Amino acid sequence: MNYTKPMLKEGSLDGQVIVVTGGGSGLGKAMTKYFLELGAKVVISSRNMEKLEKAKIELEEQTGGTVLPVQCDIRHYNEVEAMLKATIDTFGKVDGLLNNAAGNFISPTERLSANAFDTIIDIVLKGTKNCTLAFGKHWISTKQEKATVLNIVTTYAWTGSAYVVPSATAKAGVLAMTRSLAVEWAKYKIRFNAIAPGPFPTKGAWDRLLPGDLKEKFDMKKKVPVGRVGEHQELANLAAYLISDFSAYVNGEVITIDGGEWLKGAGQMNMLSDIPEGMWDMLTQMIKSKKK
Ligand code: HXC
Ligand code: NAP
Repeated sequence: MNYTKPMLKEGSLDGQVIVVTGGGSGLGKAMTKYFLELGAKVVISSRNMEKLEKAKIELEEQTGGTVLPVQCDIRHYNEVEAMLKATIDTFGKVDGLLNNAAGNFISPTERLSANAFDTIIDIVLKGTKNCTLAFGKHWISTKQEKATVLNIVTTYAWTGSAYVVPSATAKAGVLAMTRSLAVEWAKYKIRFNAIAPGPFPTKGAWDRLLPGDLKEKFDMKKKVPVGRVGEHQELANLAAYLISDFSAYVNGEVITIDGGEWLKGAGQMNMLSDIPEGMWDMLTQMIKSKKK
């Protein structure tokens, strides 16, 4: 199938320097790999340096590209400033920021400690704010010709969701930041967009959202109208497009890539998809007979 194949032409990100937070695992790593294949140099950052070093070796071997791993807890502004400095010291510039790092786990909200709630808000909302503010100030003060910020949110950023309330609250904030700054910082040639992925299996997300036998109990495929979960390459294709100059006229947009999952949950009569084809004749008859 074509959706598992790389989409953009070779060299589409030649000369670009892109920072990917949480780039050492899961979706961040998949997007990093594709950026490298397209010619970008990529800084991957997270808290775990050992993981980042391993990812660097693996990604450079696979792609022949250049990866700079930088330890950075995005909850701390001084660490984010140090990550930015390491990027500029190594590559001389930065063109794109992919705010991908996140923290999340399922829990009834009343069971959360204040610190548990803060932890998620601090990683997702404050972390994204820290990176956005530090990089934005840099681009504005250096009068950079153009720059792009891409934020990874979720579809429950606008619907909300039970049992992941800190994450939903924080992602909603990130979405508001995306749309606000798309307008405010357009005059500085900084573009903002977001991607809202549906279920894309990763160890980080699945271990925390579907622990134990919940994976079997709640088969995510069944929630998705197209009948499957996402492939990492199809997310990487969208991310590469949005971080590249091909999307220069796309600004302030959130693109959902979920096979129709959130709409299936939203539409009032969507449960009728469960009705077997053969039953529709009888149902139509019953409805029409009411007219008489
Ligand atoms: C209740 C919990 C908890 C749990 C931690 N806490 N796990 N409370 N239920 N399952 C509480 C702790 O008791 C503590 O509060 C506070 O949260 C902080 O916990 P720490 O372990 O000290 O935090 P830290 O080491 O900073 O780790 C952060 C983390 C962890 C979020 C808790 O899971 C992590 O490192 N996650 C990073 C990766 C990740 O989450 N990936 C998934 C992204 S998936 P007290 O009061 O005891 O001090 C995603 C998908 C979205 O976002 C949509 C999918 C469809
Ligand atoms: P993941 O592998 O757990 O990714 C989270 C990344 O964030 C990790 O690399 C982690 O690295 C990093 N991170 C966490 N806390 C950090 C901190 N304080 N500072 C810096 N880095 C930190 O999970 P994923 O599924 O790939 O998620 C990636 C993104 O996609 C997230 O924004 C998530 O909300 C979003 N998303 C995922 C799905 C899905 O189905 N997978 C669906 C919707 C949205 P360290 O632990 O080394 O710090």
